[in-house]
Amino acid sequence: MVTRTLVIIPTYDERESLPRQLEAVHAAAPEVDVLVVDDGSPDGTGDWAEEHARDDARVHVLRRTAKNGLGAAYLAGFAWGLDRGYDLLCEMDADGSHRGVDLPALLARASSADLVIGSRWVPGGEVVNWPRHRLLLSTGANTYVRLALGLGVHDATAGFRVYRASMLRRLELDDVESQGYCFQVDMAWRVVRAGGSVAEVPITFVEREAGDSKMSGAIIREALVKVTAWGLAHRVHQLAGLLPGRSRTAGSD
Ligand code: GDD
Ligand code: MN
Repeated sequence: MVTRTLVIIPTYDERESLPRQLEAVHAAAPEVDVLVVDDGSPDGTGDWAEEHARDDARVHVLRRTAKNGLGAAYLAGFAWGLDRGYDLLCEMDADGSHRGVDLPALLARASSADLVIGSRWVPGGEVVNWPRHRLLLSTGANTYVRLALGLGVHDATAGFRVYRASMLRRLELDDVESQGYCFQVDMAWRVVRAGGSVAEVPITFVEREAGDSKMSGAIIREALVKVTAWGLAHRVHQLAGLLPGRSRTAGSD
């Protein structure tokens, strides 16, 4: 049976980067379909994508009216892809940071894992041209996630991923509230709690050459608050399982 793959690319003001990203994806993996999820980019990214989609049947566009965050864009993309029966759903940034050449290795690994993460922080992984404050933010965030959640993933905030559709269908995606980049942690955490397998494949992450990052103080604050809340709830749940009289029911609730 042929595996049908959808690469979801969220965009906000990526008019300069998106054409190169689509080219890179299809040069490396000509058989995949792409869904661009544009949040009404003022720079015309959505218009360009729609025009391009008329010439390339592999490219689809989902246009949303407001910038509602990376999480909401991906959830809309997942729903679109699950409705259409794709087997693998990928996440990829539009700005060239996630290289097309790394995609085939991630797709290959999905034959033995429910979630494959393109990881900067495993041996062989690399970051090119990131300023020091971004390196510190990423390593700090990943350390915090590991301590707070006990999540054994080295790059839990990474945005280059492959999910098996069968895994996504098992998650309660309607409950996901994460709007910003903590969506990535949220999803990895959900896969692990659902008993799914996670694999990390080393990638080279290259800082964008055009356009601007959408990282903001609000995105960092949301991540800090949410990860802390998930961590506390997790510890309370673990402790409750240790209380006398609860041991028989532990794991059944
Ligand atoms: N539709 C939509 N809506 N797209 C968005 C939004 C939004 O609200 N916010 C960001 N994007 C898109 C961008 O246009 C880009 O294609 C992708 O999401 C990633 O955004 P960047 O702004 O380039 O992220 P970054 O480079 O700062 O952050 C990278 O590292 C994060 C932390 O490790 C990315 O790889 C993130 O995915 C990752 O979580
Ligand atoms: Mn980027």
